[in-house]
Amino acid sequence: MQLSIKHLLGIKDLIPQDIRLILSTAKQFKEVLQRPIKKVPTLRDTTIINLFYENSTRTRISFELAEKRLSADTINFSASASSVSKGETLLDTVNNVLSMKVDMVVIRHAASGAPHFLAKHIPAAIINAGDGINEHPTQALLDAYSIEERIGSLEGKKIVLVGDIMHSRVALSNIYLLKKMGAEVMVAGPPTLMPKYIEEALQVKVEYNLQKALQWCDVANILRIQLERQSQVLFSSLREYNLSYGVSRKLLDSINKEIVIMHPGPINRGVEIDSDVADSHQSIILQQVENGVAVRMAVLYLLSGKTS
Ligand code: NCD
Repeated sequence: MQLSIKHLLGIKDLIPQDIRLILSTAKQFKEVLQRPIKKVPTLRDTTIINLFYENSTRTRISFELAEKRLSADTINFSASASSVSKGETLLDTVNNVLSMKVDMVVIRHAASGAPHFLAKHIPAAIINAGDGINEHPTQALLDAYSIEERIGSLEGKKIVLVGDIMHSRVALSNIYLLKKMGAEVMVAGPPTLMPKYIEEALQVKVEYNLQKALQWCDVANILRIQLERQSQVLFSSLREYNLSYGVSRKLLDSINKEIVIMHPGPINRGVEIDSDVADSHQSIILQQVENGVAVRMAVLYLLSGKTS
């Protein structure tokens, strides 16, 4: 089995078979990661660069670990410590890197579309590790993996994405993926953080009352407010946001079922999620991080050797 794509730019471009293939390959790699010797020779002689133009903790470490577990050679680039500050363009930077014989590029960038631009101009396989407010495909894949691991097939499951839907690439990638795999999707949050016409455009339910959203779902994926991407004041204060849209123990106790709690991290305790929720047995936040390595190993392996 092969992927239908040469680059992982977004979930939007994937067919359901691609998603299934990535998730089933990730399962095999997760098993490898439970062994005493976690390293396999799969990507020996493959060189991968991690180009991070935006800050990252989990995603960057996760890609780096995935590459190391597959025996790839890796180079890490962070924009702040590079010639970007001397005025070099993205394309020049990447072409210079590729002339040193790099096979795959993992890129995170604050500009939506940066990975798509690179894919048009360079011959290496590109993996989007988050582009602006557009997509974060490996996050959606690891979220899907983690949901299925906890409650079984996505088909027919009810998932709500809570919070800053407008500025969240995690939300968009999750919506595409969950819809393609037959889940029911709801978005919940304040009206000022909700994109106009999202209901029609993406075929999701919209709910402004958090308690009703939680009562409806099997899984709630809680998102951080992307303050760094907001140029105007969209809610009065973090304190008030927490009062209306923070997921608290009290709120979870007020619904008559036990739902699964997720968060892509970094979490802001006391803002979108309270500590006693984040650290509870309902939360699979750390399993998401663990599964990220296996999912990224699967993506790297399935895209290796595919150049345009
Ligand atoms: C997310 C991101 O960078 O888009 N984090 C992540 O990759 N784990 C979400 C966020 O920053 O809130």
